[in-house]
Amino acid sequence: MKVSAQAPANIAFVKYWGKYNDALTLPSNSSISMNLAELHTITTIEFSEKYRDDIVEIEFFGQRLKVVTDQKKVRVTQQIDRLRKKAKVTKRARVMLINNFPAESGIGSSASAFAALTVASCAALDLHVDRKELSILTRLGGSGSATRSILDGFVEWKKGTLSKDSYATQLAPASHWDIHDVILVVSSKSKKSSSLEGHKLAKTSPYYKARLAELPRRLVLVRQAIRDKSLSKLGIELEKDALSLHFIAMTSTPPIWYLESSTIEVIKEIYTLRNQGIEAYFTMDAGPNIHIICVAKDSSTIKAYFARKPYIETIFVSGSGKGASIIEKHLF
Ligand code: PMV
Repeated sequence: MKVSAQAPANIAFVKYWGKYNDALTLPSNSSISMNLAELHTITTIEFSEKYRDDIVEIEFFGQRLKVVTDQKKVRVTQQIDRLRKKAKVTKRARVMLINNFPAESGIGSSASAFAALTVASCAALDLHVDRKELSILTRLGGSGSATRSILDGFVEWKKGTLSKDSYATQLAPASHWDIHDVILVVSSKSKKSSSLEGHKLAKTSPYYKARLAELPRRLVLVRQAIRDKSLSKLGIELEKDALSLHFIAMTSTPPIWYLESSTIEVIKEIYTLRNQGIEAYFTMDAGPNIHIICVAKDSSTIKAYFARKPYIETIFVSGSGKGASIIEKHLF
């Protein structure tokens, strides 16, 4: 059977950084994010006797990869293998992943890719699993943040103590709060250090324990901010959280710098905008690109403000959106 699924990227307000179990992708802390309606991966997968080996094809932001590196292929086929084993199927698959935004630059491409891959594969293999199980199966694929792309809207991924307790739950549907993420792409080049590497190194930072100690309080405040639709409360926490993640990365051994000088330029501009009365708050994932969280009515002003800056490559604007779902459109 051939199935296509679409899954959103998500932006974390409280970020997942570091794991207590690498093999099972169990995170050192719970995390909270918003799914992005406009940024997605569509994945089509077909299991058939006609394929002698797995075929993996990938297109990022309009560009088909001429060669899919072994590293990328292995990550995809390992997840397919896991699901094939569960379904007791041995047929090989052809899989195509198409992203409508740049990948590997801190915009959540592995989240949308692994969520779409897992949902499409489960359906094609006739595995009947509920959302909780889907989120666990997605997590096992190695991109932990993908587990949050399964559900709609505002989502929390609980750390859990065992694999069966570490899954995503919805905090509020997408319609709950009309906030936007204005994504400023200052570099669409693939980052030099992957988030996989960053998670592994987090423990080497002398400040990592301090980050983990401040997170329970932050999680409470962010849940409250979402419930009360308070952008100012959310904004303060999401900025602190992003800076804390990058500080851990920079003080890991060896250090990782995801930020570029243009990232810092943008942060300073955001402070200026705030002084002018526009409520805008920044966050960055493991990459140099900046996500500006604002109320929906301000996103066009913010986009226009940054569109004229020489260091901006592209700008995306997205509200909150639904989680992963099966779609009709097949890619091959
Ligand atoms: O899911 P991964 O392994 O790609 O790691 C994602 C880590 C961050 O994007 C930096 C934070 C997060 O919670 O999304």
